[in-house]
Amino acid sequence: MAKYEFVEHNYDVVVVGAGGSGLRATLGMAEQGLRTACVTKLFPTRSHTVAAQGGIAASLGNMGPDEWHWHMYDTVKGSDWLGDVDAMEYLAREAPEAIYELEHYGVPFSRTEKGQIYQRPFGGHTTEYGEGPPVQRTCAAADRTGHAILHTLYGRSLKEKAEFFIEYLALDLIMSEDGICQGLLAWRLEDGSLHLFNAKMTVLATGGYGRAYFSATSAHACTGDGGGMAARAGIPLQDMEFVQFHPTGVYGAGVLITEGARGEGGYLTNSEGERFMERYAPTYKDLASRDVVSRCMTIEIREGRGVGPNADHIHLHLNHLPPEVLSERLPGISESARIFAGVDVTREPIPVLPTVHYNMGGIPSNYWGEVLRPTPDDPDAIQPGLMTIGEAGCASVHGANRLGSNSLTDLVVFGRAAAIRAGQIIEPDAPPMPLNSRSVDSAVERFDRIRHMSGDVPTAELRLIMQKIMQEYAAVFRSRDSLAEGMKKMTEAAKMEADLSVTDRSMIWNSDLMETIELTNLLANSLTTIASAEARRETRGAHAHEDYPDRDDENWRVHSLAWLDGTQVEMSYRPVHTETLTPFNVGGVDTRLIKPKARVY
Ligand code: FUM
Repeated sequence: MAKYEFVEHNYDVVVVGAGGSGLRATLGMAEQGLRTACVTKLFPTRSHTVAAQGGIAASLGNMGPDEWHWHMYDTVKGSDWLGDVDAMEYLAREAPEAIYELEHYGVPFSRTEKGQIYQRPFGGHTTEYGEGPPVQRTCAAADRTGHAILHTLYGRSLKEKAEFFIEYLALDLIMSEDGICQGLLAWRLEDGSLHLFNAKMTVLATGGYGRAYFSATSAHACTGDGGGMAARAGIPLQDMEFVQFHPTGVYGAGVLITEGARGEGGYLTNSEGERFMERYAPTYKDLASRDVVSRCMTIEIREGRGVGPNADHIHLHLNHLPPEVLSERLPGISESARIFAGVDVTREPIPVLPTVHYNMGGIPSNYWGEVLRPTPDDPDAIQPGLMTIGEAGCASVHGANRLGSNSLTDLVVFGRAAAIRAGQIIEPDAPPMPLNSRSVDSAVERFDRIRHMSGDVPTAELRLIMQKIMQEYAAVFRSRDSLAEGMKKMTEAAKMEADLSVTDRSMIWNSDLMETIELTNLLANSLTTIASAEARRETRGAHAHEDYPDRDDENWRVHSLAWLDGTQVEMSYRPVHTETLTPFNVGGVDTRLIKPKARVY
C-alpha cells in the first residue's frame, strides 16, 4: 500500500454535506457555540438543494385557512401510513417556526399583495383532514425556492463562523472498537491530501442516490455517499424500496418541471386531449399525490394513450395561464422548457414523463436525527456519535411516498432538530477521544485499493449497467418476476465492482477515482433498493407491486431494514411508530392514533 500522511482536525461536530439540511444543521450547531466543520464535496451553493423549485410546505395560512394538524394528516396519508407518526407530527408542527426563521435569516420569499409569504397549492396538500378543498401551503420564492434558501443559509453559516472544507470527498466513517462513531476520513480533491476529522458528533447530510437511475432529476453529485458509508459501518438502510418518480420530468432530458406548475393551474393530457387525472382522482385531479399521478401517467402510456410519435409520454399544459403568472411565478421552468424541450410554454404543452426524483429510504434515524442501529431487543437503538438528516436519512417522515414541498421542510426542520439535539448531548469541554487506528487503517486501505484497481471494467461502463438495471427493474410498476430478475442482475453488477479499473492513479482532482468511489456508494444503495423491493409483498406508496396490488397493513406496516454484507443483503423489519407526540384531533375525536384507511384523492 502507498504511504499516506494525514491532516488531523478536532471538532465538536462535523457535518458531511452542504445542502439544505447540512447547512441548516451547521448553522444551528455554530449558533450554539459548538465548534462545527462542514465537509462538502461541492461548493455549498452548488449542492442539489439549489435545484429545488416549487417551495416549502408549512401551514402559515396566508392564503386561506390552514393548520398544522391538517398538514400532518396529509403527510401521514401521503406516506401511505408507513411514516413514523411522531416524526410527521414534529415536521408539521415545527414547520411554521422554521419558515419564519428562514424569513428572518433573509430568504427572499415571493409575497402576496399584503406582503405576506406567498403560498401555492401542491399535490396531496388539503384541508380538513383530506375532506376539504386543496390548500395553498407551499411557501415559494418564484420557482427557485431551494436556490434562495441555500444561498441564505450559507451566508448565515459563514457569519456564525462555521468552518467549511470545500471539495473534500468523505470516504469512510471512523468507528471506535466499542462501536461509537468518532468522525471520518476525507480526501481533499484540490491538493490530494487525506484528512482525519475527529468529532463528538458526525452528521451525514449527503443527499439522495438518484444517480443510481438512468433518468433522474437529481444532480450528478447525488450518489448516496452517506448510505454507502453507513452500510460499510454495519448500519442497515431503511425503506429503500420507496423511490419517488416525479410526474413531470422533461421527456428525454429528465429535467424537473415543478409540481408548482400544476399548483398554479397546469394540467396533464393524453393523446386524446383528455384530462385523464379527472378519471383517477376525481377530487384532487392533477393535484393528487405524486405516486398516484406517476402511476396514472404510466397506465395511460401503457394503454396506448401516450403522446408523441412513439406514444411514450404525456403533455403538461400551461399555455392557458396568464403570461404574468408564468413570468412571475414560474420563470425558471419556462426557461427549462425552452432549453430542454424547445417549447414556448405560453403556446405549447411540455412533453413530460415520470422521472426518478427522491429517495424516501435511507439511513434510519429518530426525529432528532440520531442514527438507529436496531437490535432484535431494541428496534430504536441509537448509534452513538452519528446523526443523519435530509434525503440521506430516513426519519421516517415520508414513509412510502413524500408529498411535494415536504422535502425542503424536512431539510430545515430536521437540520434544526439535529442542532438542538446535538446541543443537548455534546460536551464541548470534553477532550477528543483518540481515533481507533484499526478503523482508520481499514478506511485508508479501502481508498488505496480502489485507487489502484486494475481490472477490466471501466467505471462508466459499470455505472451505466447499474443505471439501466435500476431504470428497468425498480420502476414505477414492479412485479415478482421483474424484481427477481432485477435482483439477479444487480447482484451480478455489484460483483463486477471487484473488476473495476481506475486508470488515473494521481491524488489531485482525480475524477476517475472520485467517480469510482461514488459508484461503490451507488451500488450499495442500488442493491439494497432492489432487495428491499423484492422482499415487500404488497403495494404501498411508491412501491406498486403488480402481483400484490393491495396495501397489507397486517403484515407489511413495517420498516424494511436492508443489511449489506459485500454483495449479500439480509432483510429484517422494525415497527412503524404509530402514535402522535400529542393528542390529535381527527374528525372531532381526540386520538393518538391516526388509523390507516383507503387512500383516495
Ligand atoms: O415539483 C417540485 O417543485 C419539487 C418539489 C419537491 O420535490 O418537494
